[in-house]
Amino acid sequence: MGKISFLGSKSRQLAGLDISSSSVKLLELGAGDRGALRVERYVIEPLSGEAIVDGNIGNFDAVSDGLRRALRRFGSGVKNVAIAMPASAVFAKKILLPAGLRELDMEMQVETEAAQIIPFALDEVNLDFQVVGPAGSPDEVEVLVAASRKEQIEDRVSVAESCGLKVSVVDVESLALEAAFELVVQRLPNAGSGRLVALLDIGAAVMNFIVLRDGQRVYAREQAFGGQQLTKDIARQYGMSLDEAEMAKRSNNLPDDYASTVLRPFLENLALEISRALQFFFTSTQYNEVDYIMLGGGCAGIPELVDVVGKRTQVPTCIANPFTAMSVPTKLGTRKLLTDAPSLMVACGLALRRFDE
Ligand SMILES: Nc1ncnc2c1ncn2[C@@H]1O[C@H](COP(=O)(O)OP(=O)(O)OP(=O)(O)O)[C@@H](O)[C@H]1O
Ligand SMILES: [Mg+2]
Repeated sequence: MGKISFLGSKSRQLAGLDISSSSVKLLELGAGDRGALRVERYVIEPLSGEAIVDGNIGNFDAVSDGLRRALRRFGSGVKNVAIAMPASAVFAKKILLPAGLRELDMEMQVETEAAQIIPFALDEVNLDFQVVGPAGSPDEVEVLVAASRKEQIEDRVSVAESCGLKVSVVDVESLALEAAFELVVQRLPNAGSGRLVALLDIGAAVMNFIVLRDGQRVYAREQAFGGQQLTKDIARQYGMSLDEAEMAKRSNNLPDDYASTVLRPFLENLALEISRALQFFFTSTQYNEVDYIMLGGGCAGIPELVDVVGKRTQVPTCIANPFTAMSVPTKLGTRKLLTDAPSLMVACGLALRRFDE
């Protein structure tokens, strides 16, 4: 049984396309030497402020133009893409079904269950499911049911089509993130075996928090928090436009008092959000610690962040890089990829869909 794809069909040559709050990201992976993967190419093309609003396409033309610019720089003939729906647009729930059901029977059971958990008519949503694994008892399996409104999927698909692309996979953002995270965890001592490993992907608008153990998801949550706040703080403090503030932030081209006046309070706030998220994880599960924290998302580019999170949580903390075991063509620049890697987690999870069985 395959992974979630709201539209079904699969194809061989395929790029990951992450349309997110701050940018359009395209990434193509290929087969490298000795079974390793290879980063073929990627681009990150910034989007203006209102292009994406709450995970939805807010301004179609702005996103479409951004994607067209991205494709020009991408320089690949790839037509098929895998895209992701943000968690805010997806209803997902794990259910238990009898083991050994035939595919068709399982589909029918899933539809019956889905009708109970989804607040829309079934014909308004795209529905898919994935067997996650055995349940507690041998005669049941755990099945992840996911649904997204057709309207919201169609918005994203039309943007891709407006640039001549064909969407062959529609995934869920947190699942794509998880797929990339599994690669990152492999790099831990002993491949993180038996350990609770947390990923904090801090983007522009959303912070995703995932905990895995032995490749199994133990916990996943997202909350509204991200680097947009810091950009706003900079704009306000120094009387800049949001675009100017964003540029100044990324190039670290800011007045001397930036570190103490703007960055420090933001980091304090972020550390607080993170300890709260961890507390919430501990109180709502059987666990009361994590063994490692990995930082993803563009905010991982804030040099002080690893230190702040490590000190605050007292958990070994490092930056997530899904490409460490992949070969990288020299023209891409290893340094640059290292900087961009944490923000390419979702794009990487989507690009991996090329290798689906
Ligand atoms: N070097 C850097 N220093 C500080 N902040 C950075 C740096 N690089 C990127 N960022 C910030 O990271 C954020 C973008 O991260 P990312 O690309 O992961 O977000 P996104 O996927 O577009 O957003 P979301 O997932 O929230 O929809 C922006 O707020 C950006 O300012
Ligand atoms: Mg993101």
